[in-house]
Amino acid sequence: MSDLLTHSDAGITTLTINRVEKKNSLTAAMYASLAMGLAQAAQDPAQRVVVIQGHETVFSAGNDLADFLHQPPTGTDAPVFHFLQGIATFPKPVIAAVCGPAVGVGTTLLLHCDLVYAGDNAAFSMPFVNLGLCPEAASSLLVPRLMGHQRACEALLMGEPFMAEAALEVGLVNRVLPPTEVNAFTQQQARKLAAKPLKSLIETKRMLKSAHTAGVLARMQEEGEVFRRMLAEPAAQEAFGAFMEKRQPDFSKL
Ligand code: COA
Repeated sequence: MSDLLTHSDAGITTLTINRVEKKNSLTAAMYASLAMGLAQAAQDPAQRVVVIQGHETVFSAGNDLADFLHQPPTGTDAPVFHFLQGIATFPKPVIAAVCGPAVGVGTTLLLHCDLVYAGDNAAFSMPFVNLGLCPEAASSLLVPRLMGHQRACEALLMGEPFMAEAALEVGLVNRVLPPTEVNAFTQQQARKLAAKPLKSLIETKRMLKSAHTAGVLARMQEEGEVFRRMLAEPAAQEAFGAFMEKRQPDFSKL
């Protein structure tokens, strides 16, 4: 079965990350499928809402670390950037259903969603520094805007996970539910949105975001350039190697 399932029904496009054996980590091919799913849903007038979901036990462990090691993104035409630009500029409502770990892009993609429903087992983290990297997806701009500088530093410098209730408190998620109820509740909310006039949804979302869109895309570009450079540097190589070898990284000389 595919690692990324696309299902369209009653005006709702549901993109399901389906690589549970690798904790729903995202490969280049999966980013390409996500970008394609978004592009199709944006263009198809019959599609009114997009849902992004994972599994009850895991939303996404972020970028596939073997991909980072062996076939890192080399430019702005990489699938990950198509996906991030696609979600940041997506014109219709996007809802995420998040249970279990949401690591790296598993958390930062949520900054571009319009509604987020979380299981009480959700654990959000952006451990870029721990991987010898820097923020991506405009998270260096959007996280402090959401939660203030000090809490953003806890998330982005310390890279420590924060749980669903903390995410609810800062406004990253709209509601916390038992994990078994999250996907069904999200579909219920998606159906409510899909029943509303599409033009009103699109114009309202556009106005909610338009003041910030250029700045978000510029920051994404700036982060992307630094991120790509850092992928090849010794700290990141040590972090990826350590993950593959199931050991702690040694940054003592870096
Ligand atoms: N890339 C590639 N493989 C990954 C992965 C990732 N980001 N995250 C998990 N996996 C793989 C593991 O290598 C393991 O594979 P194996 O069974 O072949 O050894 C499998 O998924 C299960 O992972 P495991 O670490 O044993 O699960 P866990 O429940 O103990 O921990 C996580 C889950 C998500 C907390 C942990 O896997 C993790 O921290 N992953 C890395 C997250 C990360 O740094 N992402 C990049 C952000 S930029």
